[in-house]
Amino acid sequence: MVKAVVCGASGGIGQPLSLLLKLSPLVDDLALYDVVGSPGVATDLSHISTKATVKGYLPADDGLKLALTGADVVVIPAGIPRKPGMTRDDLFNINAGIVRDLVEGVALYCPKAFVAVISNPVNSTVPIAAEVLKKHGVFDPAKLFGVTTLDTVRSETFTASVLGKSDPAVFKIPVVGGHSGDTIVPLLSLASPPVSIDGAKRDELIKRIQFGGDEVVQAKEGKGSATLSMAHAGFRFVDSILKAVSGQTGIVENTYVYLPGVAGGDAIKAATGLDFFAAPVELGPSGAVKVENILTKASDYEKGLLQVAFKGLATNITKGVDFIVAPA
Ligand code: NAI
Repeated sequence: MVKAVVCGASGGIGQPLSLLLKLSPLVDDLALYDVVGSPGVATDLSHISTKATVKGYLPADDGLKLALTGADVVVIPAGIPRKPGMTRDDLFNINAGIVRDLVEGVALYCPKAFVAVISNPVNSTVPIAAEVLKKHGVFDPAKLFGVTTLDTVRSETFTASVLGKSDPAVFKIPVVGGHSGDTIVPLLSLASPPVSIDGAKRDELIKRIQFGGDEVVQAKEGKGSATLSMAHAGFRFVDSILKAVSGQTGIVENTYVYLPGVAGGDAIKAATGLDFFAAPVELGPSGAVKVENILTKASDYEKGLLQVAFKGLATNITKGVDFIVAPA
């Protein structure tokens, strides 16, 4: 029996993500938590003729506790999204507290669950989640992930578009660093199958991947950021976790993890000076099995981009950690 919980289930991401989870043969029980609207979303989804049972929960009457109890995987797309002109870091003041409180619930009611954090700024909200779990003595670094899959999905799509290829899904592209602007570093030189894109075309492609979120924010004219593509990306990530849990091998996703706690992470920490970093991570039944240290194989151009990413990440990570360990 697999129980999945979506926290922020009534939102732009939460609703389509909950729909995709309801359609998954790997989910038996789906709990939808939000501060508004979740019983309605749950009732709507519950009429779909797939096996997962669905129930909606609100904060009243111990809703968070009931939603999280027995959870195997908790996905968190709760919080406010960006409007035009905002960076992901501008969301910190509101979303940091939301993520802290939800992860506190995880620590209390389902400390062994996989936790996938979508709420931005991911570079900071994942360190917040880690510190909350540490505070409660239940932190398992193999089970905490920042969802950066949308950067991977965009890399595949935009690379295929530059090359005029019709099927973006054939590309496997390591996207490392973090999840905001120039902390997102697609390592095109290590793509498989190999891609040959140089000069201005390469620079434009990398910028488009790094700032792809802005395209959506602008196109939606103040009505939010990526929701449907994010729901797809979030589902792809959770599906990969559930497949790994069910015994499938060879599953690798780019994701933002706590380096000291995952095999291979120490080498990346030594090279970057960072505790958190996104890189290709092999998933197994207990979560992150190992993180690939591919940074040494990056091209010189990419190594330049990485230096910029390291600086931004260091600031974002410290901000997240301090929010819990040294609150202002
Ligand atoms: P939205 O505003 O449509 O939905 C957010 C939902 O969270 C709302 O239903 C709201 O009621 C709920 N919520 C607020 N406080 C809550 C709490 N304390 N507990 C439970 N639920 C709560 O926003 P949207 O577009 O769904 O985005 C959600 C988050 O995902 C934003 O922070 C956004 O920046 C982030 N995001 C992350 C991406 C990534 O690649 N990791 C990509 C796109 C968005």
